[in-house]
Amino acid sequence: MGIIEIDRIIKRFGDFTAVNGISMDIKKGEIYGILGPNGSGKTTTINLLLGLIDLTSGSITVNGINVSKDPSKVRMTVGFMSQETLVDQDLTARENLEVIGSLYHIGKDELAREVKEALSESELTEFENVKAGTFSGGMQRRLNLVRAMMHNPSVIILDEPTTGLDVQNRVSMWNRIKTLNQNGITIILTTQYLEEADALCDRISILDHGKVIANGTPSELKRMAGNGDIIEISAKISDIPKIKELLKTKFNLKAESTSDRITAVIAKDPTKTLAKVADQLEKSKINVISIGLHLPTLDDVFIKLTGSTLRDTADASSGSRMDKVMTHR
Ligand SMILES: Nc1ncnc2c1ncn2[C@@H]1O[C@H](COP(=O)(O)OP(=O)(O)OP(=O)(O)O)[C@@H](O)[C@H]1O
Ligand SMILES: [Mg+2]
Repeated sequence: MGIIEIDRIIKRFGDFTAVNGISMDIKKGEIYGILGPNGSGKTTTINLLLGLIDLTSGSITVNGINVSKDPSKVRMTVGFMSQETLVDQDLTARENLEVIGSLYHIGKDELAREVKEALSESELTEFENVKAGTFSGGMQRRLNLVRAMMHNPSVIILDEPTTGLDVQNRVSMWNRIKTLNQNGITIILTTQYLEEADALCDRISILDHGKVIANGTPSELKRMAGNGDIIEISAKISDIPKIKELLKTKFNLKAESTSDRITAVIAKDPTKTLAKVADQLEKSKINVISIGLHLPTLDDVFIKLTGSTLRDTADASSGSRMDKVMTHR
């Protein structure tokens, strides 16, 4: 039995179905990832899990407690860091933590100790008397995380903990998440970033349009993309159908395509095949923007299942903001 059991949940807003029959079984001690593009239903699932909104149908239990019956009890055992920063901008780092502590009725001495610990954990001790409104995005996120942990929950839910963070802060958040997990905390996180899900999560559910389209460990999922190397060709939109046809007729390769990109699994002699494909494209006078090989990624799985790409273009060297690229067929 999982610590969290989500059973065929549905959430409708009027005529619109935001969550359409999702089930998940999350085990104690794991880092569970919910990966999906904008609007796929990640936050709605989290809000249902916390009992912040009502289910249309289905059921959720956390530690055996039914969320629909006892939402406040669930929220006492679960920590939550929302997608929006919820730290109070007018309060200092210390005050932000104290307010939360008093909400949970933590005694005075214990609170003082926990606040001190939280400040140190989030590396904000030297800013304890500074208003949170002046903090950088990364600092606010760190404060937000320890704030969510003030009542010592055994489960923590993080809704897109690294969206909008630069690479350095992203890696630092990953390390904090790993440390919490090593201390026995069960973690559920949502993300739009493939690499994040791949690097952090024991198991992942991939969401699209309110449905789980695949789930498993990162390696199980990547195997779904195919056995072998992936050849990837990007080209002008108008050339994509021609390239697809060429791969099929000359190389017997079944290709997946998005608007400007083609991928196909090559099971045997990938480098040789790559050279032959490049040669054939040149003979056919088709110009490509790029052509190369890679091992299967979670993006290849997403493309295979949806025909869209869910790819981040994080530039690790420049520390630039991360932008997600989504192209529809
Ligand atoms: N209160 C609401 N009323 C109507 N529609 C809603 C409501 N909340 C969410 N939705 C719709 O449900 C869908 C799923 O939204 P949700 O916020 O769960 O997506 P998400 O996966 O968290 O996306 P993002 O990555 O942008 O945070 C969206 O199309 C959204 O517009
Ligand atoms: Mg969201």
